Amino acid sequence: MAYLSGNSFFVYFLFTIIFGLGILHASAELQRFTHTPKSDGSLSFLVLGDWGRRGEYNQSEVAFQMGEVGEKLDIDFVISTGDNFYDDGLTSEHDPNFEESFSKIYTAKSLQKQWYSVLGNHDYRGDAEAQLSPFLRQIDSKWLCLRSFIVDSELAEIFFVDTTPFVQEYFTESEEHNYDWKGIYPPKTYISNLLKDLDMALRESTAKWKIVVGHHAIKSIGHHGDTQELISQLLPILQANNIDFYMNGHDHCLEHINDTKSPIQFLTSGAGSKAWRGDIEETNRKDVNFFYDGQGFMSVQLTQTDAIILFYDVFGKVLHRIISSKELRSSM
Ligand SMILES: *[C@@H]1O[C@H](CO)[C@@H](O)[C@H](O)[C@H]1NC(C)=O
Ligand SMILES: *[C@@H]1O[C@H](CO)[C@@H](O)[C@H](O)[C@H]1NC(C)=O
Ligand SMILES: [Zn+2]
Repeated sequence: MAYLSGNSFFVYFLFTIIFGLGILHASAELQRFTHTPKSDGSLSFLVLGDWGRRGEYNQSEVAFQMGEVGEKLDIDFVISTGDNFYDDGLTSEHDPNFEESFSKIYTAKSLQKQWYSVLGNHDYRGDAEAQLSPFLRQIDSKWLCLRSFIVDSELAEIFFVDTTPFVQEYFTESEEHNYDWKGIYPPKTYISNLLKDLDMALRESTAKWKIVVGHHAIKSIGHHGDTQELISQLLPILQANNIDFYMNGHDHCLEHINDTKSPIQFLTSGAGSKAWRGDIEETNRKDVNFFYDGQGFMSVQLTQTDAIILFYDVFGKVLHRIISSKELRSSM
């Protein structure tokens, strides 16, 4: 008896420490990485989402075309918008799915650059922390996945936001799926700390281009549609801080949608493998510039004055082009 209660006191003590550290960590500043741009100050990268299926559903074909475009644009890095490993994330840092769906698929020379990844809802169905583990970076040094962080490359600052804990239905549908909420509880505190940190970092940013990346769409006409929690909690902060682009995955398609209240443009790149869902929202929305239901990816080229963003299909064909000019916008 005495042994048991001593033991449970110890467990309680451990919990207090771990929980305490969790809170400290959650309210600390977002982790920041510096990525030096090209010598002429420009920057180019690819954006891909919703991909890890051991090459199936055209994942390998998309990977091949990314390699070609990556070479042509001499990309600096790759961004993954999450849902990195299907169906249920990684089981542990030793899960062979990591190499089978990542290292052995994105083999082109031009893709052996740093990848910056966020977690999607499917990643939370496995061992979410496995994807954050430095051990994966020993297996494949191009991998880097964290919950929320900043990549600073002078010309552009890219803010990665962990959007899964915002979505309330994941906390109520838990009979269907198991989510790994370690480090997230209580989600209200987690989210309010995250939004505070993001707001502060955006306010202090002096970068020419401000880009925010999350897994879930703010605006989408695809299968999942708009994410109401992000419209009410995240979008006002992005609008107040004049960001240029919000980039996401989650819907397995490519999209370009305008914000109706600000110059922000919403870009979905979630077409890294399984696509062709065929249930586009019946809509006469006037904010949609482009929608494609098939596989593909996106490239981004930035200079001091211009952003060129291209959407590609599985054959590498350019489907849609965005040219955004800073000088034009500031003179409007
Ligand atoms: C692969 O891409 C081609 C061309 O878009 C498409 O016809 C085919 O259905 C795709 N395969 C799968 C499994 O989605
Ligand atoms: C979105 O905004 C751009 C720039 O203001 C404009 O050229 C374009 O027509 C808009 N698209 C839609 C669908 O309203
Ligand atoms: Zn998703």
